[in-house]
Amino acid sequence: MRLILVGPPGAGKGTQAKFLSRHYGIPHISTGDIFRANVAAQTPLGLEAKRHMDGGNLVPDEITIAMVRDRLSEGDTSGGFLLDGFPRTLAQAAALDSMLVEMDTPLDAVLEFQVDDEEVVIRLAGRRTCQKCGHIWHVKFDPPAEEGVCDLCGGELIQRDDDRPETIRRRLEVYEEQTSPLVDYYAKAGLLVSISASASVEEVTDRAVEALSA
Ligand code: AP5
Repeated sequence: MRLILVGPPGAGKGTQAKFLSRHYGIPHISTGDIFRANVAAQTPLGLEAKRHMDGGNLVPDEITIAMVRDRLSEGDTSGGFLLDGFPRTLAQAAALDSMLVEMDTPLDAVLEFQVDDEEVVIRLAGRRTCQKCGHIWHVKFDPPAEEGVCDLCGGELIQRDDDRPETIRRRLEVYEEQTSPLVDYYAKAGLLVSISASASVEEVTDRAVEALSA
């Protein structure tokens, strides 16, 4: 399965990607996670990415495309992959099309998560991410047993720098302006599968698996 997840910030892409990558046995490739790992390691890529991420803006296409090209060339993608957060612009989508032609591996589907802005703001404001294992929690919708501590590995839970209210607003604008045109792009390519992501995590997983098997 070669799958793309698209949807606004906070739609639940990362949460569902963890289930779906296990379900289909494919690697989860999140450009946001790769950028954040580089920010934490203070690599030149991370320092450049941070300038854009902190303002809620996209990292420039040429940097992002080169990074994804490298990642897709790794051996674990030969049986498929799940792209979470890429592509995010029409230029990235066109570059991905070329990469997949070179790899002779067409996409199977693009799964769109639909959720309204008010819900997104509530989800992002309460998101906490484990610094150690990356598990995503929510203070209200999916709280850990002990505040600030990951149930799965005991790691410390942190709030992402770009989950501040003003940055969330900017990320939503950027999604509308630069990423939402991809919905039409993939609909025209006959690849788009859309589901409502306004439901419990388990219900959204069921909807996703059902929609992808239809
Ligand atoms: P990225 O990390 O991709 O962020 P995003 O797309 O804004 O998405 P999020 O991770 O914020 O949300 P999500 O949809 O994964 O939701 P989650 O599952 O965590 O990108 C960050 C930045 O990196 C970008 O702004 C940009 O600067 C840069 N970047 C990344 N890719 C790029 C690209 N291709 N080009 C250029 N720049 C790029 O869920 C959110 C919360 O809701 C959690 O707390 C979760 O527990 C909760 N939740 C999830 N599902 C449910 C549910 N069904 N019910 C209730 N709560 C739920």
